[in-house]
Amino acid sequence: MKQILIINGPNLNLLGKREPSLYGSQDFESFLTELKSEYNEVELSYFQSNVEGEIINKLHEVGFNFGGIILNAGAYTHTSIAIADAVRAIQTPVIEVHISNVFARESYRHHSYLSEVCKGVIVGFGLDSYKLAVTALMMGFVK
Ligand code: DQA
Repeated sequence: MKQILIINGPNLNLLGKREPSLYGSQDFESFLTELKSEYNEVELSYFQSNVEGEIINKLHEVGFNFGGIILNAGAYTHTSIAIADAVRAIQTPVIEVHISNVFARESYRHHSYLSEVCKGVIVGFGLDSYKLAVTALMMGFVK
């Protein structure tokens, strides 16, 4: 069975409470329960951290044996060369995901250090962005 890890970065622990007009009103834990029952052919696990180094450590930990990583690095997307280097360093394919359409927002959100090192990018479909990423991994769209 394919092992997939979802990594959420800073402030995404507040999903459901944080700016619901942008990020929706569902918390990630309840969404994850739904996701796991909908996609029971894969083994889905979840990690969230507000700390850049912890995200890097987790990428190193799973990045040589998992089947895929779905990464929403939050604001680190727009700032972190260190997370981009970690994605470069590992072998597991990484999909960059965003809940909101970052291109319809402030210009500082239009650049991602991660996009060029990820296999693909899914942006702007709310929490369904994660479903699209799991589907891409399951269907073999990620080579
Ligand atoms: C986000 C978009 C980022 O710009 C922002 O800093 C986030 C969430 C998203 O999922 O839409 O924290 O990654």
